[in-house]
Amino acid sequence: MKKDLLSLLDLEKEDFETLFARAIQLKERYARGIFDKLLSGKTLGLIFDKKSTRTRVAFETAMIQLGGHPIYMSTQDTQISRNEPAKDTARVLSRYIDCLAMRTFDHALVEEFAKSSTIPVINALTDSFHPCQILSDLMTIIEHKGGYKNIRIAWVGDGNNVANSWINAASVLGLDLVVACPDDYRVNPDIIESASVKSKTDIEFTNDPKEAVKNADVVYTDVWASMGDEDELSKRIIAFKGFQVNKRLLSGAKDDVLAMHCLPAHRGEEIAEDVLEEKNSVFWDQAENKRHMHKAILESLI
Ligand code: CP
Ligand code: NVA
Repeated sequence: MKKDLLSLLDLEKEDFETLFARAIQLKERYARGIFDKLLSGKTLGLIFDKKSTRTRVAFETAMIQLGGHPIYMSTQDTQISRNEPAKDTARVLSRYIDCLAMRTFDHALVEEFAKSSTIPVINALTDSFHPCQILSDLMTIIEHKGGYKNIRIAWVGDGNNVANSWINAASVLGLDLVVACPDDYRVNPDIIESASVKSKTDIEFTNDPKEAVKNADVVYTDVWASMGDEDELSKRIIAFKGFQVNKRLLSGAKDDVLAMHCLPAHRGEEIAEDVLEEKNSVFWDQAENKRHMHKAILESLI
């Protein structure tokens, strides 16, 4: 039966471990100039209804380097924008392509595509989740910290799609996760409830960023206004006062703390310029690892 990757709750701990090991191996092989043409003759469709630099290019280059072909479609260029039902589009695309990566607003749309497709569907970001991002970020943590066990991860920012996927990953893997959000921008309780089904850990929640970063090995942030929330930015800048990841906040974490951000970053809002430009920062490794992790995901699903 075909498998989809819509949320990290779709994976078991063993699946995470397999993807980490394979992505790290594919990265090493690529560095040695070995191109594994594992998906020769296969086609990945990408339907994106939101902007993307990293996820799109990482998926497209991953597919090309694996010997396959990507086809990028902005939703506006498809008949979806003229109300062709998702279930029809999904059935038609299943006759042409071998896998579909989707970036949409409503998570239910990706679920509908997955239900009506006979090919694997990958969530490339919805309003609710960004699973592929957290897989590649955990790969980066493994590379820089030697693993994720006993690594304290502090989320500082909006209770958004990326935070939700961290909660899912923590629930499946038993991560030591603390989530700090302003009171009005907390994680939706339904997300916490659904993740608790898998829960192998007690995730901590707070509205105090200083408290959250104490003893943290990783401090992770993301934009204060995600795609679709831009109209609220000025209101959010006030609400997120004290939540900027800057040198002062990081001084409360472990000495060797890793600051992380899925990017794109908004300097002077959720993150300070000097943190982003730190010589040994891992933001660019995070971005690179998306390509290696996407290869591992594509290989496992196709
Ligand atoms: N991190 C991430 O998903 O970036 P893009 O929006 O550029 O794809
Ligand atoms: N939370 C951000 C992530 C971008 C990669 C957004 O949804 O816009």
